[in-house]
Amino acid sequence: MPIIYHHISALQTTLKAYRSHKRIALVPTMGNLHAGHLELVKIAKQHADIVVVSIFVNPTQFGVGEDFDSYPRTLDDDVAKLTTVNADYVFAPSVDEMYPVLPAPTSISAGMITKQLCGQSRPTHFDGVGIVVAKLFNIVQPDVAIFGQKDYQQLTIIRQLVRDLSYPVAIIAVPIIRAGDGLALSSRNQYLSEAEREVAPVLHQALHKLAQQLKHGIYSTQSEFNDLLDVLLKQTRMRLVKAGFIIDYLEIKTTQLEPVQIDKVQTQNKQTQDLIILAAAWLGRARLLDNETLSISYASSH
Ligand code: PAF
Repeated sequence: MPIIYHHISALQTTLKAYRSHKRIALVPTMGNLHAGHLELVKIAKQHADIVVVSIFVNPTQFGVGEDFDSYPRTLDDDVAKLTTVNADYVFAPSVDEMYPVLPAPTSISAGMITKQLCGQSRPTHFDGVGIVVAKLFNIVQPDVAIFGQKDYQQLTIIRQLVRDLSYPVAIIAVPIIRAGDGLALSSRNQYLSEAEREVAPVLHQALHKLAQQLKHGIYSTQSEFNDLLDVLLKQTRMRLVKAGFIIDYLEIKTTQLEPVQIDKVQTQNKQTQDLIILAAAWLGRARLLDNETLSISYASSH
């Protein structure tokens, strides 16, 4: 069974004894753990001697009217699950322990990347993620930290944070863990009614189909790509809306979350490019996130 710490200083005293000769991994979570989180812990075990799982429902990443109060807090169950994957320590601080002053006068902003995709409907979300992840890195001082690719924008922002603030932490990304029917595992899936749970895998199916359709083309100009993308996005949106989703966004980007610019890629003489389709959509009370990566081919411009 992992040892649970609620206070920063006690956790730090314990970790200090390991720091010179053991690798430490951090798996940051908000608790209510599912098989996806346990996979992150298993991967962490492959990269480090000591695995610390943080469980903290971080108030600063929830906007007004979001589910901070109702977000499921299930520490005992979480600890039982973490025992099955041999996590070493759980760090479960109170809000006061993490934020002696709230709102904290110090802020972290990752800039433009936070304004798009999820940032459009959750404008303060990534500032909250940025500050809590920075604090967790400072508290645990891990050699590696493990994040799931379901929250792809979050992952990209954290990589940027590590680069820009020179954190000596290797970030390991773990592919999305899915239920047997394709639904990406998420703590928020429990907000789905039985009927909605049946429909929910349509999100993944729709993204997967869009990726397959885009993959088969060979594009020589930006407009050729845009024209096909417009048609396919429209079809995908219609499918999702018909199934009962309210779409927050459905977009295709480079894997750095930049716009797809075919002319730019062609001048670099590349013939393929990795892209990512990202979506967030509401089904009842649940806001579901999913993404699908693909590689597309370009014909030479000359
Ligand atoms: O992905 C999450 O669960 C949270 O955003 C994180 C990274 C634990 C920060 O609170």
